[in-house]
Amino acid sequence: MKFVSAQEIYKKTGSRGGLPAWTYNSDALTQLEIEQLFLRNWLFVAHVSDIPNSGDYQCFAMGNERAVVVRDQQGQVRAFHNLCRHRASRVVADDKGHCGKSFICPFHGWSYNLDGSLKNIPKAASFAQLDRQEYGLKTIDCEVWQGMIFVRFGGDGASIAVLFAEAAEEIGLYRIAEMQPLEEAYQYRFDLDWKAVLDIDNEGYHVPIGHPELFDLVGATYTDQLVVGGLNRSFGFINERKHRLQRNRDYVAALPQESYLPDSHKNLWIYWGLFPGFVLTLFPDQIEIYQIYPTGNQQSVMAGVTYALADDRPEMQRARALNRDINMDVGDEDIRLIEWAAEGMRSNAFDGLVLSDLELGVASFQNRLRELLPVVTLEQEPASGSLPAVNARMRKQANVAAVG
Ligand code: FES
Ligand SMILES: [Fe+2]
Repeated sequence: MKFVSAQEIYKKTGSRGGLPAWTYNSDALTQLEIEQLFLRNWLFVAHVSDIPNSGDYQCFAMGNERAVVVRDQQGQVRAFHNLCRHRASRVVADDKGHCGKSFICPFHGWSYNLDGSLKNIPKAASFAQLDRQEYGLKTIDCEVWQGMIFVRFGGDGASIAVLFAEAAEEIGLYRIAEMQPLEEAYQYRFDLDWKAVLDIDNEGYHVPIGHPELFDLVGATYTDQLVVGGLNRSFGFINERKHRLQRNRDYVAALPQESYLPDSHKNLWIYWGLFPGFVLTLFPDQIEIYQIYPTGNQQSVMAGVTYALADDRPEMQRARALNRDINMDVGDEDIRLIEWAAEGMRSNAFDGLVLSDLELGVASFQNRLRELLPVVTLEQEPASGSLPAVNARMRKQANVAAVG
């Protein structure tokens, strides 16, 4: 693996100062971020074990778009817009479930095979002119990688396998495709911009003070890395120090050393991040997948879920439960810090950030945003209604400058 240095990240002017405060409170920018980032990049929907049988489905919504992933009768995972071709109702009402051999729209009962083709129309004669071939469910890009199902509503960037190429060997050790759900999925809703939530996640400089228990667990081994190609990797060893706190001692003592993982990974906590808001956490006892994304202006979600291999050893059960407890508290600590920082950024006294070499993950994320949405470099929000056009113009100018 090759890494990007802080020097490299900070050579772009302005990258130590963070984004202007208005970018954390703009309806127009949020809409653009949904459109240009979240609807044009891969989104995690489910793990293969969430839809084990033919007819099992799971949904995911982003902005105005709704996806449904389903396992078809041949066992293949497919993704469609959850949008009936008759009058645009959802074809499945629940977030997840089982639809048997077909989707039956709850509005007028049009039905679709699991490969998306139109199956049946009630009172079909009343649609005499309709070409049935044309009226299947619309497909969405879908990729299953190491047991994780991703969809992409638009855009034509690299596949997940290519984006994760640098991480593939390490992630492959964890046999994720063979895992099962461990606990119910969770969702935190924030009355904050999604970037405010993500900023804290993009750096470990806050770990020693912000997360006393996590720091007791991993100590000075905690490291953030930027991998060439755009992935973030953070890690910490859990066995390199004498733990002060009882729960950490209990966790490390419970964790079985007899493992499918090689010695190099038996005592590691690893976090892999993919732009814009996807994180895969690899623990020796389980994995956690979460995403941070906007749902509106000053509205965002952190949605997560845990998976693990079947293992009924009591010590493993205990390690898993302690891991959850530790991470729940880390999450609560983050929420508090996120809220305090976001409050401060609304104050008139706020005049920008100052980022250290240790916060290069925040800076590289923000640099990426500056490239894709150059409007975020402006000190003031463009006049009402003009933000998308201003951004398009700035992007064009930047492209011309890059070519010229
Ligand atoms: S909207 Fe689906 S059947 Fe009419
Ligand atoms: Fe944190």
